[in-house]
Amino acid sequence: MDRLILGPFSSAQQSEILFTRGIPENVLPERLSRERTAILYSPGAEPIANQVAEAIQTINLRQLADREDAKTLEESVRIYEWLSERNIGRHDTIIGVGGGAATDVAGYVAATWLRGVESILIPTTLLAAVDAAIGGKTGVNLGGKNLVGAFHLPSRVIIDLEILEALPEPLRQEGIAEALKAGYVGDSRLVDLLQGTDPPLAELVKRAVAVKVEVVGSDFRENDRRAVLNFGHTIGHAVELLAPMPHGLAVAVGMVAAGTISAIRYGFDSRGLVETVFGLGLPVAAAGVTPGPALDLIRKDKKRSSQGTRMVLLRQIADPVVEPVPENLIELGLAAIGIA
Ligand code: GLY
Repeated sequence: MDRLILGPFSSAQQSEILFTRGIPENVLPERLSRERTAILYSPGAEPIANQVAEAIQTINLRQLADREDAKTLEESVRIYEWLSERNIGRHDTIIGVGGGAATDVAGYVAATWLRGVESILIPTTLLAAVDAAIGGKTGVNLGGKNLVGAFHLPSRVIIDLEILEALPEPLRQEGIAEALKAGYVGDSRLVDLLQGTDPPLAELVKRAVAVKVEVVGSDFRENDRRAVLNFGHTIGHAVELLAPMPHGLAVAVGMVAAGTISAIRYGFDSRGLVETVFGLGLPVAAAGVTPGPALDLIRKDKKRSSQGTRMVLLRQIADPVVEPVPENLIELGLAAIGIA
């Protein structure tokens, strides 16, 4: 079993990330005072949630709504009521099992129940394993994505590589896009691996998580540097809503657009990026999306300043910069993904 340590931070505990094969016996970190655990799981993760329940001998299991339907305040209130019925107290533990939506809402409920209880996350999709479950961003949607949330580090994240290796292709593809993002932002060897044939999934996951651990370890609350993890996301979020397409695929398209802007501003090799995205079977364009609605959404981006929308650009692989981009350059990025 490999492990990485994220933290410690002055305002939060450290987060232990375990890479396992199978659900380990010791799901819970050793702690003196804990009476109860509660498991929240996404519908597709029921067999794994049952395995976890057996390992820790709890009967407190609750299925969440599927995907983004789980990430609402209404669902959170129903979970709080359930936690109350089960007497989950300040020193007990909430375990989230599932994809990114499940780990986001389980983390959010853990961050807010009784002003914050311990959480453990067991991501069962590649996207959750390399991104959503790592680094303590939790939240639910309210109009916009993740508008209500909290930074709350899980005390432990268990990444079961056997689960990830058995994923169906569409779920694998979504996670590969986020792993590629991690490579472009912080690990050129990871990009090399993804450009090769049959890259070993375990190594991809560990490298992508290591990039996130390093970045978040330097800027937990996203005061500045953590924003580099949003490479491909500013335009990607617009594509995700308008195309519409799953988050990971939209990030792939968003990276092509941001890569094009990076090429214009810094001479970045955007052709290499497009070939890599295409070679991985990921989309490089957003069919049917027009510039007007895309620009409207991009203008509303949380990271906008008076000089333009703040985007992550690349000077080269593993050399990101976050800076305002004027609308005429964004239009060129959109044209590169067929939004013209
Ligand atoms: N998903 C980007 C971050 O955790 O900062």
